[in-house]
This record gives sequence, C-alpha cells and structure tokens, in this order.
Amino acid sequence: MCFALELVKPYIFNQTLGAVPNILKMVSMKPLVTYFLPTFVLALFTPYGCSSVSALPLFTDSRWIVNGDGQRVKLACVNWAAHLEPVVAEGLSKQPVDSISARIASLGFNCVRLTWPLFLITNDSLGSTTVRQSFQHLGLDDAIGGIQEYNPSFLSMTLLDAFQAVVSSLARKDLMVILDNHISKPGWCCSDNDGNGFFGDQYFQPRVWIEGLGRIATMFHGVPNVVGVSLRNELRGRRQNVQDWFRYMQEAAEAVHSANPNLLVIISGLHYDSSFSFLIDRSINLTFGRKLVFELHWYSFTSGRRAWRKENANKVCGNVIDEIMNRAGFLLEQGYPLFMSEFGGDQSGNKINDNRYLNCFLGLAAELDVDWALWTVVGSYYLRGGKNEFDEPYGVLNANFSGVRNPDFVQRLSALQAPFQDSSEDTARKVIFHPQTGLCIRRKSNLGPLQLGPCAETETWKYTPQKTLMITGTYFCLQADQPGEPAKLGTICTNSNSRWDTISDSDMHLSSKVENETVCLDIDSSKTIITNTCKCLSGDSSCDPASQWFRFITSSGSGTKRPAL
Ligand SMILES: *[C@@H]1O[C@H](CO)[C@@H](O)[C@H](O)[C@H]1NC(C)=O
Ligand SMILES: *[C@@H]1O[C@H](CO)[C@@H](O)[C@H](O)[C@H]1NC(C)=O
Ligand SMILES: *[C@@H]1O[C@H](CO)[C@@H](O)[C@H](O)[C@H]1NC(C)=O
Repeated sequence: MCFALELVKPYIFNQTLGAVPNILKMVSMKPLVTYFLPTFVLALFTPYGCSSVSALPLFTDSRWIVNGDGQRVKLACVNWAAHLEPVVAEGLSKQPVDSISARIASLGFNCVRLTWPLFLITNDSLGSTTVRQSFQHLGLDDAIGGIQEYNPSFLSMTLLDAFQAVVSSLARKDLMVILDNHISKPGWCCSDNDGNGFFGDQYFQPRVWIEGLGRIATMFHGVPNVVGVSLRNELRGRRQNVQDWFRYMQEAAEAVHSANPNLLVIISGLHYDSSFSFLIDRSINLTFGRKLVFELHWYSFTSGRRAWRKENANKVCGNVIDEIMNRAGFLLEQGYPLFMSEFGGDQSGNKINDNRYLNCFLGLAAELDVDWALWTVVGSYYLRGGKNEFDEPYGVLNANFSGVRNPDFVQRLSALQAPFQDSSEDTARKVIFHPQTGLCIRRKSNLGPLQLGPCAETETWKYTPQKTLMITGTYFCLQADQPGEPAKLGTICTNSNSRWDTISDSDMHLSSKVENETVCLDIDSSKTIITNTCKCLSGDSSCDPASQWFRFITSSGSGTKRPAL
C-alpha cells in the first residue's frame, strides 16, 4: 500500500509549515516510521497515482479533475476490455490477474477504463453464468485451459463475480477504475448497424440501460477505487439525434449520481464519440455539480481510413487539431474536463497513418494536458470477430500478456502520464515537447548542446513577445545555427537567429533565420537539438516531418518541483 507516501514526500522534505495540516491528514494512514525514511527510498515505492487513492472520491474543478484535497489528479488510464462474447476481462488465460494489474501499475498508468456489456448486469441469467460455462458455450476450450492454469479460482465464479474480482485486483495495485458501459449485447464494438448504437436500437432500450447503470453504480458503492462511470460508449447510427441525447444522458446521469454520488459521471458525444458540437449553444442540465466529465475518442481513422497518408502530414495534423477543438476542445473553455478515453494505434511502427496521427495527437494531448485512456492494454482477445486468440496490434502488452509489445511506445506515453500543469493558472512557463520521442528539450550544461530528455527533468522556457525563447530564470536564449549544426544557447538575443516562429499548418515546426535562410529545429541521431532545413512543410504527402515536430506545453513545474500526481 502506498496511498499516502507521494503526498508526504514533497511536504516533509521541502515545504514550509504551511503544509502541516495536509500532512496531518495523511499521517493517520501511515505508521510514523515512514517519515524517517529518506526521500529516495520512498520514491522507490511510489508509482504515479498512489496518493490519488488517499483522497478519493474525485471531483471536477472547472476543467480539472481533483481529489478531495483539491489537488489535481490526472487520469492516465489504459482500456481493459471485458465486453466481448465471453464477458470476462481479456488475458486471464495468459497471466494471473494480479500480474496484469501489477504490470499496468508498473507501466505508469494510474487507472483502468474497464469495459462491460450492459446485459452483464441487466440479464440475470447472463450475470450468473459461470466463467467456465461462458467459455464452453463459445467452444473456447483452450482459454479454459489457460484460465485453469493462471487464474483457477475464476472458472467457478459467475461473470458478475469475475468482473468484481478484476476490480478488486486493480484496487490491490492502487489503480483507479472507470466502469465503461461499452455495448449492450456482448461482442466487439462498434458499427452503425450492430443494434447497440443509439437509444431505440434493437439492444439499446433506454429504460433497461438506465436501470443497468443504476445497478452497477450501486454495486460499486463503497468501493473507493471505482471513481467513475462512462455512461455509454460511442453513440452512433441512423437513430442519432440531439433531442434524445439530452433527454437520456441527463436522466442516466441523475440515476448514476443518486445511486452512487461518489462517481464521476462521464458522457460520450455523437458520431462514435467524436463530436459535442451540439453543446456549443446548449448546455446539459443536471441537479448536481462537480462530477460531470465529457469523453472524446479519436483514432487515425476518425478522419477517414487513409487520410493521414493521402496528404501532407502538416496539413492533416492542422485540420485534425481544428476539428478536435471545434467538436470537443471548446468544452475545456466551458469549464469541463475532457477525457480522451480512447486513442491509440498500431504499435509496430509500420503503419504510416498511425505513426503520423500519433505524433500529432500526442502533441495536442500534451498541450491540452487532458486526462486520457489509451486503447488498450489487451495484447490479444479470447475471441474477436469470430477469430480465436485475436492479436491486438494496438495492445500495450504482447499477445501472451507476458511483456510489453513496444517499449519505445510506452516510453513516449510516459511523458503524458504526469500532469504538466497543476490546477493553477500560471501559463508563462513552457516546456518544449517532441512527440516523436515523448521527450522535451533540456540543457545538459550551461552552454553545452541541448538534448532531449524526460519532460519531468527539463527546465522551463519563456516565449517572449519578441519571439525569443529564454530559459526561465536565466539570460540564455535559444539560437539557430547553420543547417546540420547544434542549436546554441547565447545571451545576445536580438539577432534574427534568436527569433522563433511556429510555422506550417500544424504549427509544430519551430523556425528561425540564419543568414536569411529559414531553418527548423530538429534532432540528430543522438537526440541532440540541431537546426536544419525545414522539411515537408506543405504539399509533399510522402515525407514525414515528425523529427521537426515540437510543441510548447504550459508547465507548472521547474522540473524538480513536479506536482505529486
Ligand atoms: C440473457 O442471457 C442468456 C444467457 O446468456 C441468453 O440466452 C438470453 O438470450 C439473454 N436474454 C436477453 C433478453 O438478452
Ligand atoms: C433544469 O432542470 C430542472 C429540473 O431538473 C428544471 O427545473 C429546469 O427548468 C431545467 N433548466 C433548463 C434550462 O432546462
Ligand atoms: C506466447 O507463448 C507461446 C507459448 O508459450 C510462445 O510459443 C510464444 O512465442 C509466445 N509469444 C510471445 C509474443 O511471447
């Protein structure tokens, strides 16, 4: 158990007496000996997110999600599917459930968006089917053998008990859980005509759904790590309409809240959860406050199957960012948290569409500093689309759930797991983020070359009205040099090579001028920051600008002073 440690650490060793009341609140949970351990020892036991559990439930504070002490908690979740035909969380035939939970925590996630089909809770005969029976009906004998080996106690559990057992396993690893009603009838989701898309579809009767949400909210009342419910995944299909959206979403939100007022109530938009444009001039009306979160889904194919490779990457990225802001990003300004509860891509690195989309999307997600949930931790499904042991190329884990599919991807993602901002409004400090690597620009020594390093350890920058980039608290500014040469730090900051503009449709190239030649910030093979000829600014759809993509990210920290969560 590590609930209190992360909060204790900064206060005990760095802070003034002003923080004492906070400490005292935490003290009751830990033996006093904790306080005499050196900071670095504590750090060994404190993955992200531990302290969040100490001050649950969660609330909203304008666009931020906060704990009971008002401190920001950034949801850095991964999706774990339990909504397909067997109605059992994936992977239990491959690894012990606690090993999967432990791995999720060790990879830096602080939460899981756990998917479930409505009928699990509204159809008593389904809910009381045993795990063994469920797999037997589907002819999945190999999976039964695997569960016998790795999670034998699950076989005789009912599907509902098995679902709760997974939530308990996540709780043992201090992981928060968001219960996502993914579909009604168990199976892979989603298509326009699957009967699960919108109110009134064959398997989606509003009354049954609202009753089911009330039941699941009640079932997890008093289970502190269950912090929220996603009311319904990806509304879609020809019945979609705004009138019914307001009517049933409001009713369901009230039902969940009255059954379990601790939960965040998380609401999906229309068109596969890609649009809330109908909220620009009409707001949702609820009787309770500080619990409402909107969720958005965005994949490479949201913009069309081949969009990212058909056109220049800067152009597509610029368009996608505009689209996301117009359809959902405005909710942040309205004062609601926006939870990017599904995004992800093929992790092999071989899909141009997914690579370009991820470089663009991670930049935006970092800049907005939103809460998020990656699709998916699942390395393979018991059964998907009629195929057994379906390999999931988007999975963080490999098909055996025994290791990470692509360590580089996890490394990139880790930059977004910690918050860049606490909930304060200081927007002057920036870090310069490089989405392709998930790293930020940092200086190794006073005047040595700049390099990429972990964002949590980089100094912050100030982007002045004169367009110079100054390291906060110093007289050093960033200076361009000849193409191919390392960028420099200098103190004479009035020449053209010290002025930086964001250019191209994506706004992700940082450009300056050296002897009238325009150059862009870039990285070389050793991750040293160089200036180089700007590449594929427009037109060319075959070239990839990603090494030159950077984004200014507002950051509250100065590297060493990161918020606890
Ligand atoms: C309820 O679940 C059982 C067992 O899976 C299934 O046979 C039945 O068709 C379901 N009933 C409804 C109304 O979905
Ligand atoms: C909001 O809902 C309440 C009752 O739930 C109702 O009295 C009120 O008129 C509604 N407001 C709007 C603007 O619809
Ligand atoms: C998964 O396990 C099987 C059987 O133990 C093994 O043959 C295979 O190589 C493993 N695959 C991965 C990706 O680890």
